[in-house]
Amino acid sequence: MRFDTVIRHGTVVTASDTFVSDVGIKDGRIAALAAELTEADEVIDATGLLVLPGGIDSHVHLDQPSGDGIVMADDFDSGTRSAAIGGNSTVLAFCMQEKGQSLREALKIYHAKAEGKCHVDVAFHLVITDPTPEVLGQELPALVEDGYTSLKVFMTYEGLRLRDDEILATLDTARRTGALVMVHCENEDAIRYLIGRHEEEGKFAPKFHATTRPIAAEREATHRALSLAEIVDVPIVIVHVSNREAMEEIRRARKRGQKIAGETCPQYLMLTADDLDQTEMEGAKFVCSPPPRDKASQDACWEGLEQGVFDLFSSDHCPFRFDDPEGKLNEKGKRNFRWIPNGIPGVATRLPILFSEGVMKGRIDINTFVAVTSTNHAKLYGLYPRKGTIAIGADADIALWDPDKRVTVTNDLLKHGADYTPYEGLDIRGWPVQMLLGGRTIVKDGELTGPESRGRYLPRNRSSLTSSRGST
Ligand code: URP
Ligand code: ZN
Ligand code: ZN
Ligand code: ZN
Repeated sequence: MRFDTVIRHGTVVTASDTFVSDVGIKDGRIAALAAELTEADEVIDATGLLVLPGGIDSHVHLDQPSGDGIVMADDFDSGTRSAAIGGNSTVLAFCMQEKGQSLREALKIYHAKAEGKCHVDVAFHLVITDPTPEVLGQELPALVEDGYTSLKVFMTYEGLRLRDDEILATLDTARRTGALVMVHCENEDAIRYLIGRHEEEGKFAPKFHATTRPIAAEREATHRALSLAEIVDVPIVIVHVSNREAMEEIRRARKRGQKIAGETCPQYLMLTADDLDQTEMEGAKFVCSPPPRDKASQDACWEGLEQGVFDLFSSDHCPFRFDDPEGKLNEKGKRNFRWIPNGIPGVATRLPILFSEGVMKGRIDINTFVAVTSTNHAKLYGLYPRKGTIAIGADADIALWDPDKRVTVTNDLLKHGADYTPYEGLDIRGWPVQMLLGGRTIVKDGELTGPESRGRYLPRNRSSLTSSRGST
């Protein structure tokens, strides 16, 4: 066979295997894995490089309106550009239902935001903020059939949070339809109470974002979400776990026999609440929810990755500009932490951080790296085996990594819309030096190869977790 492209002499890594092989690509897919493939229009020499499935980031916020004149720093163009620079070939973004809005209306808006702008492949999770009988009874089942097979519900944030009875009703629809529900677990009433107390005491600085969202508020909500899922008998994903106590709730639920997926993020390995405690509002750069905790929590999150408590390592990329009245430094936010928009940029740094801090420092092996950054995302969100692995028939979404390349993180490298990165100055070892999407090179040496937006929208199958006897 004559290939369109052959990647030669690289070390191919999947979630289960590591082997030296050439990779033959034809019509956008992987067509051969064998030694000495030579017949090709284009040959990429991967000697000394790792050949990994492109990263899949299943937790990315792009172009979401936040009210109050706050503007997210990335749209689908800049956000997916940054994703590609950081070694990703697919992102799963959120389609946020407004109150009173149908899910189809919301999807129309988000598809329009993404159309023609994406540098990597994209799919949408549906954020359910208004679970009316119509939405849960009619719309959602039809949309699951149409390939929108995952949802997110919030237990926190005024205006977004669902009550327990609404969560139960949403989970019940998920059980009937085979959708997978992601849950943001923090106790909103406890947070409101603590914010009130802080305000009475005149505590308004960014660092108090962390003290109003303590570990107990996350642990309690995690336990409650798991209990609600147990009552309905449906799998769920606990997203952005920040500490040991919430992690232990996942372990206990699994021991009871529940099917649960767990996710953690770079900020819980790399940042602490001390980062919020800085002069001149600098701490606002690190305001996200749940907040970064302490060294012991970082160690716990590493342990969860090593021991398989966490299936998913995602960015929770939710970027706002810092030095901007429409971003972190809006007038109200300067006076009171509760108005600082929650979220930090991280879609480009997710993979290099885990590669450098995890693989190169010997905390996780390279196969685990592939599993928690790509393969498990594909399986849990219904994209496997088209995505998430290097196998014959899979899309040729491939990241070539130079394990020895040393990079010091600076904001301009990341090509996102934010004017800062929480990881400025971090020394990284190992970097994705070339990215292929559907067999075509989209990034080389830290730059997009062209302005074209080749990313496609991906309808999805049901999750491995909700399909019969599936597992990651
Ligand atoms: O602070 C965060 N994580 N913002 C993004 C929204 C969410 O809760 O995932
Ligand atoms: Zn672009
Ligand atoms: Zn969340
Ligand atoms: Zn998020």
